[in-house]
Amino acid sequence: MTFENETLAPAFVGPVERPVRPHPAGKPKQWRNAYDDSADAMEAILAVHFPEGSIIDVNFGLGVFYRNGGRDRVTGVDIRPTGDVIANNKELPFDADSFDVAVCDPPYKRGDGQKYEHRYGVAPKTETKVTWDYYATLTECLRVARRGIIVKVQDGTDGHRFHARHLHIAEWMKQRTGLEPHDICVNVRKTLAPTMAQGVPHFFQNGVSYWLIYAWRSKAPFRPVRF
Ligand SMILES: C[S@@+](CC[C@H](N)C(=O)[O-])C[C@H]1O[C@@H](n2cnc3c(N)ncnc32)[C@H](O)[C@@H]1O
Repeated sequence: MTFENETLAPAFVGPVERPVRPHPAGKPKQWRNAYDDSADAMEAILAVHFPEGSIIDVNFGLGVFYRNGGRDRVTGVDIRPTGDVIANNKELPFDADSFDVAVCDPPYKRGDGQKYEHRYGVAPKTETKVTWDYYATLTECLRVARRGIIVKVQDGTDGHRFHARHLHIAEWMKQRTGLEPHDICVNVRKTLAPTMAQGVPHFFQNGVSYWLIYAWRSKAPFRPVRF
């Protein structure tokens, strides 16, 4: 039997068992889970959860995430000529399961546009569009990744409405794959970029980015998922 609005999604078996990896410095008993720098966060996430394997970064941008290392195993995809492959991440020119891990960091909404768009290209103008961009990009990430996904998410505000995007993405992933995040790490900015503090700052979460880390044991053949 099929249902209206039924779509096909891979079935995932997970989560993976939590790996026990020593901290490189050997000292801290616990990894930090809050960073103020994206490259530091990515370095820790890769060391703990994906210490080896190929990576496709589908919003490669300037490759800031790999400033501390890992660039040699990354295929950087961007719609602009900033990475290794110029492509639209909604139609990636790769077969299913071509990479171990997919990384995504779609553009965020910027009201004033200018400064951000000069650096990162055209950005959606509403928070809802940003969220739908994530869903489309993640659909391709789920197709090309064999073992996991790292998604960087910022919440956002449209005037007085707060968009708790990290919760929306987690819910979408749960519906789509049955998986909850395997781990979460955050970036907390010391100061807000002027482009992030639009209007009166009613909301706390503007300066925080979440890294939702998904890791699965196996990806079963496609099965129908009803939305
Ligand atoms: C928030 S920035 C990513 C920054 C990146 N993580 C870095 O370390 O520099 C978003 C990037 O996604 C790219 N982008 C936007 N739409 C895209 C699409 N449809 N396919 C591929 N890349 C896209 C932009 O050109 C931009 O470089």
